[in-house]
Amino acid sequence: ASLQPYNTFGIEATAQEYCDIRTIEDLKTILKAQHSKPLFILGGGSNMLLTKDIDALVLHMNLKGIEVVEETEDTVIVKAMAGENWHNFVLWCLQHNYGGIENLSLIPGNIGTAPIQNIGAYGVELKDVFVSCEALEIESQSLTTFSKTACQFGYRESVFKQDLKGQYIITSVNIQLTKRAHTLHIGYGAITKELEHLQITQPTIQDVSKAVIAIRESKLPDPKEIGNSGSFFKNPIVATADFKALQANFPEMPFYEISDHEVKIPAGWLIEKAGFKGKRFQNYGVHDKQALVLVNYGGAKGKDIFELAQLIQKTIKRLFNISIETEVNII
Ligand code: EPU
Repeated sequence: ASLQPYNTFGIEATAQEYCDIRTIEDLKTILKAQHSKPLFILGGGSNMLLTKDIDALVLHMNLKGIEVVEETEDTVIVKAMAGENWHNFVLWCLQHNYGGIENLSLIPGNIGTAPIQNIGAYGVELKDVFVSCEALEIESQSLTTFSKTACQFGYRESVFKQDLKGQYIITSVNIQLTKRAHTLHIGYGAITKELEHLQITQPTIQDVSKAVIAIRESKLPDPKEIGNSGSFFKNPIVATADFKALQANFPEMPFYEISDHEVKIPAGWLIEKAGFKGKRFQNYGVHDKQALVLVNYGGAKGKDIFELAQLIQKTIKRLFNISIETEVNII
């Protein structure tokens, strides 16, 4: 089966075997029957770069359903199944006036993969609203509940990328949201500006979502038009002492203090400074409005994009002595 429709980079690659998973029972049955086969778990396909064909059984997680599982006067806990599209879930919450994830509007991908990399944007991360998730242990086919603590969330990190990598399949996520007296996260400069531009002085959660959508649409390419996986790299975290030394050479380098001894530097700035922004090589390149995004203009090979990524990493290392890690999974 071709995996091209199932990865937002739009890379052509084939799966040795492919199975569309609609229920947890199906998933258990297949895992039992195919015990010895190598598996590849596919969610929304929005955070991977395929550089080769997949010699494995691809399980495409399409479990559906959204329901309120707990409710008080002020809050709800909503359970969403792994195969629900993240942004559709955000829209569903906004329709019900449930607040907390409006800043995470328009992030590509599915519910089931959101915890793996603790998705985040504009001052909010999944972990801020996350209650728990259910996951099936591949080995035993038993369902386990992971609390927020058990997930060990960090910046684009969780236990599912580290110690438990490849051992569990997330089947659903429980998220706590507000029903009223919503806390807005509008401190991020771009949001403030966009709300001003929309002439909104008393924003609702729906307004914040609108603003985020407008910002994302202005910077990030729509995967339906230009293949991409959002930020290709993570923003590097460097020791404040090293940053001070860099600042002497690059006084205009932007940064966010994340603790009293570490700062985060926007990789997009480093890549732009290195001259890659908007660079196009035949059918792939670096997005012209946001240098952190690599793009497939159509028909590009994953290997070519991976080589470009390595060239960018090497150049950043040489120019700034900073190592940038990929955020996207290279397959
Ligand atoms: N910048 C440049 N040139 C560029 C791009 C960025 O100079 O081409 C500098 C600017 O100084 C800008 C700063 O970088 O102010 C930050 O840029 P932006 O607000 O676009 O955010 P980012 O750090 O590039 C991160 C996330 C995004 C998320 C935004 C907004 C990571 C790896 N990426 O990007 O997440 O939407 O913040 O919160 O942390 C994703 O993970 O796929 C993703 C899109």
